[in-house]
Amino acid sequence: MKLIRTPHYQELSMKAAAIIIKTIQTNPTAVLGLATGSTPTGTYERLIKDHVENGTSYKDIRTINLDEYVGLPTEDINSYRSFMERKLFSAIDINPKNTYLPNGNAVDIQDECARYDQLIQSIGGIDLQLLGIGENGHIGFNEPGTPFTETTHVVELTHNTRKANARFFKNIKDVPTQAITMGIKNILESKAILLLASGENKAEAMARLLTSHKTTESFPASSLFQHQNVTVIADEAALSLV
Ligand code: GLP
Repeated sequence: MKLIRTPHYQELSMKAAAIIIKTIQTNPTAVLGLATGSTPTGTYERLIKDHVENGTSYKDIRTINLDEYVGLPTEDINSYRSFMERKLFSAIDINPKNTYLPNGNAVDIQDECARYDQLIQSIGGIDLQLLGIGENGHIGFNEPGTPFTETTHVVELTHNTRKANARFFKNIKDVPTQAITMGIKNILESKAILLLASGENKAEAMARLLTSHKTTESFPASSLFQHQNVTVIADEAALSLV
């Protein structure tokens, strides 16, 4: 696991964007695994800036997102599909047909999970998976206790995760109780992984990740020790307990 320390969020975002841009330049048909949450938004802003100023093209890039809430209409401002449209897709030259997220409104959500696993395989696997980290160490929506062997599945969101995400909703009651998420197995099958952590509220999770080196299902991010190509970019606030 390679750690890149940055003084602040702006530099974290620049460094993360540079890694993604390099991946695209090396492989113009790359599959990018993308994440939502507030952490990657600065990175997406940098990607847009670079697209506008330097012309980096996404015309043959495919993207596949980690997760989606169950039961939120696609056009709801809090659906991860609408988040991705707003924060990235609408501002770059990506083909909308090449952007994939789980369908949280599928009639049969179990079938949807199986379809998503097949989709990951059929597009050739993920070249670079971008990850944030939850305060309890969750990645995607893989909460503590999730077996590392799980592929895409439906999760009941913990109260703490719903509370942490309630800031985007009018009321915590509006936060969905379920989500579809890629499993840790899918994440670990990516060729490279880039995990971002910013802010003091991530300091405990980062201290646990960077100092214990113990792989345990009670701390999902520790699954990343099983992968050979992980880069962590974190700012000083997130590293304040390391
Ligand atoms: C959500 C997302 C995760 C994300 C986490 C942290 O639970 N499903 O993918 O990493 O929140 O979000 P933030 O970056 O806003 O702290």
